[in-house]
Amino acid sequence: MKILMVCLGNICRSPLAHGILKQKVKDKQLNWIVESAGTGDWHIGEAPDRRAIAIAKKYGVDISGQRARHFQPAFFNEYDLIFVMDRQNFADVCAQAENKDDLEKVQLFLDDDIVPDPYFDDNLFDPVFQMIDKRCTEVIAEVSPSS
Ligand code: 4NP
Repeated sequence: MKILMVCLGNICRSPLAHGILKQKVKDKQLNWIVESAGTGDWHIGEAPDRRAIAIAKKYGVDISGQRARHFQPAFFNEYDLIFVMDRQNFADVCAQAENKDDLEKVQLFLDDDIVPDPYFDDNLFDPVFQMIDKRCTEVIAEVSPSS
């Protein structure tokens, strides 16, 4: 199973989802690959936002080694599932799909809700961590029987 987490900048939400799921996958000894990317290109090559690094560290997850990547259409072939954090991410990723198979890989990470963007609100990093952490546990339970 290859899973891609996508947000706008790939420095706040998707690095948290990437790091948290990767850790849970390791704990469960699942043979999954988890990575992340952003629909925007401003932060390519940068480490995650220092506030994202700090909240992850507070809960025992090290995301400091990640580097931001820009979403590429080629990723549709590379990944089995592409989780997006909000509806704009959903629209931006789906707009790059070439066929129905590509589109079927794209899902809102929280099913019918969005992960709010914490970039302009320091107080959102903790609740965003919690909602991503809870959903990562569910994703493991939902996806692992078939992988
Ligand atoms: P992210 O947050 O999409 O969760 O990584 C953002 C990071 C950077 C910007 C916006 C959102 N930005 O405008 O640079």
